[in-house]
Amino acid sequence: MQATKNIVWHAATITKADRHRMNEHKSAILWYTGLSGAGKSTLANKVEEKLFERGFHTYVLDGDNIRHGLNKGLGFSADDRKENIRRIGEVSKLFVDAGAFVSTAFISPYREDRDMVRQLVADNEFIEIYVYAPLDVCEQRDPKGLYKKARAGEIKHFTGIDDPYEAPEHAELVINTAEKDLEACAAEIVNYLEQRGYLD
Ligand code: ADX
Repeated sequence: MQATKNIVWHAATITKADRHRMNEHKSAILWYTGLSGAGKSTLANKVEEKLFERGFHTYVLDGDNIRHGLNKGLGFSADDRKENIRRIGEVSKLFVDAGAFVSTAFISPYREDRDMVRQLVADNEFIEIYVYAPLDVCEQRDPKGLYKKARAGEIKHFTGIDDPYEAPEHAELVINTAEKDLEACAAEIVNYLEQRGYLD
């Protein structure tokens, strides 16, 4: 704790409530989790598009992109994935504070890590969305050719192949991308937000 010893929290003049009033909407984290190739990024971007067009403040934090910048240097060990998710969680919390709907598209394979992020914000500010497709479907899609490499032993610790994925037990939403098309999946999420009063 030595590093934070002489740092004092500075209370903001403009609060989250002020920003909600100004924006005329609430803010929350839409936490997309699931296997590589399940459709997290595609879905997060589609939902953002729908919200953005309606005038909501939105942003998407995407696994592969964040790993090129903020989280450059982190690998795929359990510890690195935890640190990856911890940082994304903290950044997401800032977005919520700034009054936006922030969508995060990370495999986030460990329940404990996702729950840690859930604890960072208020109850209704974390919406866990389990983007599900059976492994064989993800593997068939293989948009980046990584499953093929993992099967060939060229990538170690690949989620779903030789690394675990712990499915959410209490996700707010489970979206099966193998059974419904993109438009229907996105509509389901927007409907959820509407019904719960996020978009009022
Ligand atoms: S997480 O587990 O820490 O949440 P994150 O979503 O940031 O992972 O990154 C996953 C992306 O990194 C995958 O979509 C894939 O493109 C790439 N990747 C490279 N190596 C691995 C690996 N061993 N396991 C999973 N994804 C990997």
